[in-house]
Amino acid sequence: MNDILPGEIETWQFLETTARQVFGAYGFSEIRTPAVEKTELFCRSIGETTDIVEKEMYTFDDKSSNSLTLRPEGTAPVMRSFIQNKLHTLDPVSKLYYTGPMFRYERPQKGRYRQFHQIGAEVLGVEDAKIDAQVLAMLHQYFQEIGIQSVSLQVNSLGCPECRPAYRQQLIDYLEERLDRLCDDCKRRYQTNPLRVLDCKVAGCKEATVDAPAMLEHLCNGCDEHFTTVKRHLNALEIPFAVNSRMVRGLDYYVRTTFEMVTDQLGSQNAVAAGGRYDGLVESLGGPALPGIGFAIGVERLVLMKGDEKVAPEVPKLFIAALGAKAQDEAFLLMSRLQAAGVRAEMDYQGKSLKAQMRRANKLNAEYTLILGEDELNAGCAQLKNMADSSQQEVALTQLAEVLATAG
Ligand code: HAM
Repeated sequence: MNDILPGEIETWQFLETTARQVFGAYGFSEIRTPAVEKTELFCRSIGETTDIVEKEMYTFDDKSSNSLTLRPEGTAPVMRSFIQNKLHTLDPVSKLYYTGPMFRYERPQKGRYRQFHQIGAEVLGVEDAKIDAQVLAMLHQYFQEIGIQSVSLQVNSLGCPECRPAYRQQLIDYLEERLDRLCDDCKRRYQTNPLRVLDCKVAGCKEATVDAPAMLEHLCNGCDEHFTTVKRHLNALEIPFAVNSRMVRGLDYYVRTTFEMVTDQLGSQNAVAAGGRYDGLVESLGGPALPGIGFAIGVERLVLMKGDEKVAPEVPKLFIAALGAKAQDEAFLLMSRLQAAGVRAEMDYQGKSLKAQMRRANKLNAEYTLILGEDELNAGCAQLKNMADSSQQEVALTQLAEVLATAG
């Protein structure tokens, strides 16, 4: 779990502000849900046999012996809130986005943390493939706007409760014949979560399953048509993508379209964003039978990809240096008025020497400085110095805010 400090936070703010702008244009509204939910919510939605639920949740009993969990992801809480607040009665289509910390007890490494942040979006109420393409178009545009080009979109279809069980059985049969070549983890989970075996990073498992049957070849007509239409819309919108028939997601709620934005810049943590369709999830949690689709972006991974390309922190517009107690009081008033008018202004609070005050102005990268002494107070005006080119101009103290507003 990491602190995010001044100097780093500007990049975070840029990533979040851009999300608000882009998602807003696509008609999304923000939703904020608590960081803690009943444990049962995650077991029922993410799936009992997933890594997240089996090994990675921060779960504890509160003082009334309710089992609570720090949210490991945002979709289930948003669904819980959607149902509880009957949002479907307000609008047949809900487009929601969220940002915030998620918690998973994973082995930390570059790009993988125990508290991490997601920017996510969910659409409820639309089954049509156009919304799959729209959600992907929005994600694609977001990456364009934040200036990250080196990602590629991979899409897959995981079928539905109609076609997946037969495929699943076929995969189990296939794996059973190769059991001796699988790692211990896969030997244990091939019955309960056979798709996960396709995603195993162990070389032996990869080799043993190169010719495993693919879900894409076993889609029912409805799923096949849906996937074909998603691809057609993506092509029409000129969104580059590749089909990856081995893409498996670590959460059980997905049906039909799934996708990941991947990069080769982050080592093994190659997914910077991921998501898919989860028709059936809302109903399984006790809500109306509404389809849903969404994604979540890993903010730490975006920050890593932005690398040295940091967003510059804001600097003071003006630093007021003051000499003597009277001038310091006046500087304090001037600074406070400027701040109240929205101008980033600074001064020294410690009665330091002029030299020390100017050092601080330089350190803070102030755009302008103003030196206030007895003479300036008497005259009611002072020299405003542009720190970039050292040029000076005389300004009346009463005009300071106006002059700074027009100064570049
Ligand atoms: P997820 O694939 O588990 O999906 O996570 C989405 C993204 O969160 C990942 O692609 C990654 O960028 C980031 N992420 C996940 N775990 C960590 C970690 N330990 N440290 C840093 N970043 C991490 C979900 O969470 C789904 N709720 C996405 C979704 C929304 N599907 C439909 N709607």
